[in-house]
Amino acid sequence: MSDEKKIVLTGMQPTGLLHLGNFLGAAHNWQKMLDQYTCYFFIPNQHAITIHQVPANLRHATLNCVAQYIACGLDPNRCTIFVQSHIIGHTELAWILGCLTPLGQLYRMHQFKDKSAKNESIYSGLLYYPILMAADILLYNADFVPTGEDQRQHVELARDLAEKFNTTYSETFTIPMPLIEKTGARIMSLKSPECKMSKSDPDSSATIYITDEPKVIQKKIAAAVTDSGSKISANPKYQGIANLLNIYCAATEITLADGEEKFKTYAAYAPFKKEVAEALIALLEPVQKKYQAIKDDKKYLQSVIQKGSETVQPIAHHTLSKVYRKIGFLER
Ligand code: TYM
Repeated sequence: MSDEKKIVLTGMQPTGLLHLGNFLGAAHNWQKMLDQYTCYFFIPNQHAITIHQVPANLRHATLNCVAQYIACGLDPNRCTIFVQSHIIGHTELAWILGCLTPLGQLYRMHQFKDKSAKNESIYSGLLYYPILMAADILLYNADFVPTGEDQRQHVELARDLAEKFNTTYSETFTIPMPLIEKTGARIMSLKSPECKMSKSDPDSSATIYITDEPKVIQKKIAAAVTDSGSKISANPKYQGIANLLNIYCAATEITLADGEEKFKTYAAYAPFKKEVAEALIALLEPVQKKYQAIKDDKKYLQSVIQKGSETVQPIAHHTLSKVYRKIGFLER
């Protein structure tokens, strides 16, 4: 019975094409959860504006993100896909949770520190970002939040805030658990393997996008930075090669130990890189086909998020009414 299923909620910012980190660290794992859990996948466009976005680009990227979700296997008949700003409740709950969050805890968030170091003008939305994320999760009483490693601290804040609300008022929120895979959860740049792969990297050869053609994938992997050795190792000391091995293992769903075993007789990096590229090409082929088939079908994509809103708005409304009652807001 779907009512007894645990709840999964997660999302990706609509800020351009998904890259291999978003895919292996996130979307590729999400599609495996559709039957076991009640799944809510949303598009956090309110998070996206913590960094300036060109309005027309944001509009396009939001609908395009729906197409990419579906292309990655998030079948809208087996899960719910919605847009954050369509739902009344996320920012409202965030305000309330913000009133329970010490400022120091926000200043300590790694992502705030990284992003604020890169941007000249820092707006308060960037600092507030993790509270909005906690609201996204708690509004639907999610049991599990599957993400890459970089979001762990944010999910931990959501746990803290749920516990704090429950003890300050009374039992209200489910305490969410992060779900982070062993491989794929931290895919690094192909050019600077000490940094994570990111959409905002100005060097496009450092990032593989899920729409990259086979030739482009081969070229990027062949040119990926490695060390001056020949051992295929998962040891983080060999950052470049460990990253490629991690990519291979996440793509073919084997453990790092099995990956090391498989390649232990390889005497050079080139044949290994060839196999990594081939594994990615095979994995991304069906995603690319699906994406091409639906990306321009605005009517269909709109219908998916319309249905998503209809499913989740009553849930958000229910949680918010409960929270308002508990904190002492008069009912309307
Ligand atoms: P975002 O849009 O930065 O990333 C989306 C997902 O991709 C994962 N990811 C990676 N995984 C492995 N290696 C990488 N290099 C890599 N880069 C990104 C992220 O961990 C994430 O799972 N704050 C979130 C969006 C969000 C959210 C939420 C997520 C808003 N509210 C509520 C879960 C629940 C973000 O910016 O993800």
